[in-house]
Amino acid sequence: MELALLGGRPVRERPYPSWPDYGAEEAESLLSVLRSGSWGGYNEKVEEFEAAFAKLHQVAHAVSCANGTVALEVVLRALGIGAGDEVIVPAITFISTASTVLLCQGWPVFADILPSTLNLSPAAVEAAVTSRTKAIVAVHFGGQPADMEALRKIAQRHGLALIEDAAHAHGAAWCGIPVGNFGQVATFSFQAFKLVTSGEGGIILTNSPDLAERAWSYCNQGRRKGRGWFEHYSLGTNYRMTGFQAALLTAQLAKLPEQTQRRQANVAYLRSLLRELPGLRLEDDDPRVTSQPHYLVTLRYHREQFGDISRDLFLRALAAEGVPAQPSYPFPLYRNPMFRRENLPAWARGQTPPQPYESLFLPESERLCADGIWLEHHLFLGGSRDVEDIVAAAKKISQHAAKLRPHEGSLSALPKP
Ligand SMILES: Cc1ncc(COP(=O)(O)O)c(C=O)c1O
Repeated sequence: MELALLGGRPVRERPYPSWPDYGAEEAESLLSVLRSGSWGGYNEKVEEFEAAFAKLHQVAHAVSCANGTVALEVVLRALGIGAGDEVIVPAITFISTASTVLLCQGWPVFADILPSTLNLSPAAVEAAVTSRTKAIVAVHFGGQPADMEALRKIAQRHGLALIEDAAHAHGAAWCGIPVGNFGQVATFSFQAFKLVTSGEGGIILTNSPDLAERAWSYCNQGRRKGRGWFEHYSLGTNYRMTGFQAALLTAQLAKLPEQTQRRQANVAYLRSLLRELPGLRLEDDDPRVTSQPHYLVTLRYHREQFGDISRDLFLRALAAEGVPAQPSYPFPLYRNPMFRRENLPAWARGQTPPQPYESLFLPESERLCADGIWLEHHLFLGGSRDVEDIVAAAKKISQHAAKLRPHEGSLSALPKP
């Protein structure tokens, strides 16, 4: 059968389940806030949602906020990260994990990932610790918990704070313990693509009442819980989540456990089918990961198994067959334009960064940017047929790859999916 990119019939014409997924529960919950007349951050739904999210993760305190970026900024401030402090972050993550360190006038120090988990390599973290290091931010990339036991040991040995950036990892667990319990504090995002979403939103989880109080106060213009509306005890800002966000999130959160199970079953099926397709590999199945919500399913592309066609051409052909997939980050975070000297904040331009960001080369992070493919979580919310179509489309491309090779240099001339 001809490849769809070259005019043939696609493997699949039905769309995959879309995201966000919502129904009558979201509508009803939103309407209840609308009718209450209390639309802001002091609507009772906000505290209700905080309690439900904390309970799901078995953590004592939750502080909701406007988004996952400010959640990170708030915890860094609450931990006292400031001028000249170094914070170790993975090179494979979204900008906020590192940019919030700069916002606090600290330096992000990038460490490489482990190819088996796509998360911080504990050995690389150990090697990056200096006398100025104050914290480690472990990202649970794609929903896969990082090796928190090893990272916790390093943090304890050097007296560092350990922060979990769990923006991808709602409901994830490691050795039976939910994320949010491994460091001093964890942050989550409820941005539009996330597994639990209100379009924008964030939350901070911690077992430390003191950290929770400081974080809450910073998000509430320096107020203290139970004190007067016009009494402000420290410098803060308004990063509150609204009642409408909490209404959506309450309805979304109720669906997370069942959706996680469905995604886990579908990804396990994908893993079994990929055994017959050596050109696409999933990261290792780690028995210590006891709940993986699969925010992103990362495949490693081996071009030699696909007639040596480039990853981008493969992705175009895959999309034409009816399977939407994306290349991973275009470059490790340290090569993002923001880390060029001229784009750093004014205070940083006059100083020497702890790492030469522009010439850094962390091999595993570089490799992932070159061969990583992302399948988004909602592709795994359907049935087994949806999974079979991914593999059928990839097999079809591998069988006919030779026909695509002549098009390598003229991707822009090919029909757009
Ligand atoms: C790993 C990671 N951390 C933090 C964030 C920031 O979250 P937000 O977009 O809610 O500000 C994101 C967003 O995608 C993320 O992927």
